[in-house]
Amino acid sequence: MVLVVAGATGTVGRHVLAGLRDLGVPVRGLSRRPPEPDGWARFSFADPAGWPAAFTGASGLFLVRPPQLARVRDVRPALEHARAAGVRRVVFLSVLGAERVPVLPHRRMERWLDASGMAVTHVRSGNFLQNLVTVHGAEIRDRDELVVPAGSARMSYVDARDVAAVAVCCLVEDGHAGRAYSPTGPDALDHARVAAVLGEVLGRPIRYRPGLLRYGRLARRAGVPAGPVLAGAAVYTLARLGVGARVTDDVRGVLGRQPVDLRAFVESHRSAWVPTAR
Ligand SMILES: NC(=O)c1ccc[n+]([C@@H]2O[C@H](COP(=O)([O-])OP(=O)(O)OC[C@H]3O[C@@H](n4cnc5c(N)ncnc54)[C@H](OP(=O)(O)O)[C@@H]3O)[C@@H](O)[C@H]2O)c1
Repeated sequence: MVLVVAGATGTVGRHVLAGLRDLGVPVRGLSRRPPEPDGWARFSFADPAGWPAAFTGASGLFLVRPPQLARVRDVRPALEHARAAGVRRVVFLSVLGAERVPVLPHRRMERWLDASGMAVTHVRSGNFLQNLVTVHGAEIRDRDELVVPAGSARMSYVDARDVAAVAVCCLVEDGHAGRAYSPTGPDALDHARVAAVLGEVLGRPIRYRPGLLRYGRLARRAGVPAGPVLAGAAVYTLARLGVGARVTDDVRGVLGRQPVDLRAFVESHRSAWVPTAR
């Protein structure tokens, strides 16, 4: 039997794939464009032709809902195929606070999965620290600014590698079915504080700019697709309403160690923000 990782090229999925491989577990990564011939299957939620090769022999699935697929009906047919092919265990990458926001695509997905008959674990992640490298990388690197439309709202950022490690445990250990974990970092920070820590570690001032339009414009200019930009705007809007600031002990509870914090993350990713041209 094999474990299957959807979104295996993505922020969390790539670390889930690597973590399972490190454990020596038979694993198959899914991608619309597999980077290697071995250990991968070509897969799209929109193309049934690839589903048999993706799910044959699979017992478990790490499920990422691609940001641009907002409706359950976009992903449900592939999941029904997976279930019919024998997938029994699903670990779903959801978002912190999903249980409080019924209209979120993540929550709709959770509810469908809960009724699916499969053994499901929800991993409701806080905002990824990796967003500071991907979505916000260019503005920090080249403009010395952090543009996040969250006002003074606090958010509990988490390292995607910690989220992936939690997901790996849920896939390979018994006892996690029917449970939900909310991995977060050790504290909730507003973005003035995030910018201050960036500035302290990088040795130059980084300004916090909270504008929504500026955020959308810069992210698009940096090549971030429209789906993730809109999803990010929604997440930051919810943050202003108090969703996303909860701090949990779930990383330590599952992994037995503290989560990575902002300062440690920035120190280990320093090279991502070295200015390209001054
Ligand atoms: N960003 C955050 O801070 C955050 C926090 C909590 C939860 N989340 C949630 O985490 C999930 C992942 O978000 P992300 O921004 O980190 O994206 P990501 O996982 O880095 O990228 C999306 C993944 O989906 C795959 N994909 C895209 N379209 C697909 C399709 N039609 N069929 C199959 N696979 C497809 C891509 O693989 P290929 O291109 O290789 O096919 C890619 O691996 C989202 O549901 C998001 O809401 C994000």
